[in-house]
Amino acid sequence: MNSSEIRKKFIGFYTARGHVEIPSAPLVPANDPTTLFVSAGMQPLIRNILGEPHPLGKRLVNSQKAVRLQDIEEVGDNRHTTFFEMLGNWSFGDYFKKEQLPWVFAYLTGELGLDPHKLFVSVFAGNGAVPKDTESIRIWKDIFARAGIDAGEGERVFAYPAKNNWWSRAGEPDRMPAGEPGGPDSEVFYDFGQELRLHERSPYNGQPCHPNCDCGRYLEIANSVFMQYQKQADGSLSELSQKNVDFGGGLERQVAAANGTPDVFDTDLFRPVIRVLERAAKRTYGREEHDTRAMRIIADHVRGAVMMLSDGVGPSNKQQGYILRRLIRRALLYGRELGLSGDWRYVGTLAEPVAEIYDAVYPEVRARMRDTKAILEEEAVRFGRSLEKGLHEIEKLSEINGQTAFTLYETYGFPWEMTVEIAEGKGQHPDRRRFEEEFEKHKALSRTAAAGMFRGGLADQGEETTKLHTAHHLLLAALQQAIDPSIRQRGSNITAERLRMDFNFGRKLTPDELSRVENLVNDTIRENLPVTRVEMDRAEAETIGAQMEFGHKYPDRVSVYYVGSPEHFFSAEFCGGPHVAFTGRLGHFTIQKEESAGAGIRRMYARLTPAASGN
Ligand code: SER
Repeated sequence: MNSSEIRKKFIGFYTARGHVEIPSAPLVPANDPTTLFVSAGMQPLIRNILGEPHPLGKRLVNSQKAVRLQDIEEVGDNRHTTFFEMLGNWSFGDYFKKEQLPWVFAYLTGELGLDPHKLFVSVFAGNGAVPKDTESIRIWKDIFARAGIDAGEGERVFAYPAKNNWWSRAGEPDRMPAGEPGGPDSEVFYDFGQELRLHERSPYNGQPCHPNCDCGRYLEIANSVFMQYQKQADGSLSELSQKNVDFGGGLERQVAAANGTPDVFDTDLFRPVIRVLERAAKRTYGREEHDTRAMRIIADHVRGAVMMLSDGVGPSNKQQGYILRRLIRRALLYGRELGLSGDWRYVGTLAEPVAEIYDAVYPEVRARMRDTKAILEEEAVRFGRSLEKGLHEIEKLSEINGQTAFTLYETYGFPWEMTVEIAEGKGQHPDRRRFEEEFEKHKALSRTAAAGMFRGGLADQGEETTKLHTAHHLLLAALQQAIDPSIRQRGSNITAERLRMDFNFGRKLTPDELSRVENLVNDTIRENLPVTRVEMDRAEAETIGAQMEFGHKYPDRVSVYYVGSPEHFFSAEFCGGPHVAFTGRLGHFTIQKEESAGAGIRRMYARLTPAASGN
């Protein structure tokens, strides 16, 4: 069963149960500065989890493009990837555990054809604030009993603490900022029955083997989060106004399980890329451990880079662009280990099969392939040059120890093995333990940084951010009305301090043009126009000319924000909000900077100040 069939089966299973399919949101979250990439299907739906009605109802299903960077160092094993697709279904205050868990089981065994004997499940063991999830244990026991399996606790159903069985965007309850929703979850693991037996010692971590021990025998393929709590400012958890289900299952892992392979790279989602790589490197996947690992890393990173480029991310030294650059560079370094260097543009040929893999589901990948390839190749050639420079630097170093090896890894991305080779050529033997200590410190820092992204809590709903979000709508309309009606938004980023908008325009704006735009926005603020949200069919929103987010696919029913009245508006945009109720709340609008953000794209920064100080 290939990935397209599985995607279709999942969507079909849930639409038959009253769910409406929504398209995948782009990888870069819209107007959400708290995170770089969408990393879970629930992220674009956070407001619905908190209680805002979704235009398409209380039951949704989709396959969401996602990127998780916490796992980047683990890529190379049989199951970790950076980019992945998450199959998701949601109940916003509709059904709950007793419907969800039997559906998960019916889907996995009925649609994917997985043997129920190979499924193991986990639930939340409870903490001081939230009790053990005995209801899910009871439901699972019934489900397995109907399949003729006695599901004993500690044998088939496992209760784990918050570290494993609590889900929120920020992790465990202690790490959740005020306002963040979360809840206990119940995961399903597929047992690949490798050499280890349940409860035997795992060589991976020396602990007895069990579904969550991460030795590679069990693969988590499904996770039902019971989003029922919200963190309060005093640190406590309170019940949300509605009980939600947030389900996510990694498509890659489900394809692996359905095909009986524990290796997600040995599936139709990666094979076409690996085949091109095998031909280029003249090596065979699965033969040598070292080559196989390198091929997995390259295939993963190239796929991730292609998906980011297709969603409008470009390489840079900041934020999403930096991550993209890092993926491309790591791919090239591992390519070097396979003997691929010199003409670094080979990386472009690896991008093409990615378009083929996603033709039916993400046509934007093929549509942007020419640009994608050109950017990849340019980036690769540039890195090739910097790599030569790095090698030259190593040659000049008088001592290469564990610490320097780590610095070389950090700065140039040189893996340990390479650095050692060069050091040994100089008669030196860097200390591996020191390198690993530094590496662990670095990993812990990355994790803290990832969690820190949420420190602001629902920053995207704060008062200042909300005002800037409304100002963003005004700015786009003002650019179209004062400068050029063909201007479209090409990207946005809003924090509590300022807004940033990218838009298509072929040259620098003149000071006169900038003040025309600024004045028009300030006039509109002074008019104190109402800002209203209206739900309508997508076709209707298109007819009235509502602005769309670049690269975004919209469902059939959408929400549109008007500034002014629906009959006579200054601005209309497809948007999920939130916004201020009247433009008069915004204060004074100032453009701070206007600069180039690539060929034909301009970038503008603007801020709001209280009206009195602005006038
Ligand atoms: N949000 C949960 C996860 O990412 C379930 O979708 O695992």
